[in-house]
Amino acid sequence: MKVLFVCLGNICRSPAGENVMRDLIKKEGVPGIYVDSAGTAGYHIGKSPDHRMTAELKNRSIAVTGHAQQFTKSHYREFDLIVPMDEDNTHNVLKLATNSEDKKKVMPFMTFCKNFTNREVPDPYYGGEEGFALVADLMEDGCKGILEYIQSSQ
Ligand code: 4NP
Repeated sequence: MKVLFVCLGNICRSPAGENVMRDLIKKEGVPGIYVDSAGTAGYHIGKSPDHRMTAELKNRSIAVTGHAQQFTKSHYREFDLIVPMDEDNTHNVLKLATNSEDKKKVMPFMTFCKNFTNREVPDPYYGGEEGFALVADLMEDGCKGILEYIQSSQ
């Protein structure tokens, strides 16, 4: 099972999802799940995750790795589950789908959260630290939901 998290810049929300998911899989000892992330925009290609996102996750003892890449339609071939963070990302990812099988792989992040009713994962980039803490809270909740979803559909 291969899971791809997608946001706009691939330096805040989707690397948070990728790294929280990897941490959870490791703690739970679940084999066979590969995770990565990508952005719908190309502004930050090659950059490491934002230092504010990294700091928030390090405070929670979650290691952060990765370099930004742009989402392309070839990701549909490579991944089984594509998880966009907000409605714009969902729209832009679906625009690159070539068939209904591709479209079925797209499941917005917030559909996996149990403890939050937000419709989207808010973009923290231009805001304060509290935005990064909220993203991390959402990731910790939703990634558990993703793991349950994967385990229940296998
Ligand atoms: P992300 O956050 O989509 O969660 O990585 C953003 C990063 C950069 C920009 C916007 C959002 N930007 O406009 O450069």
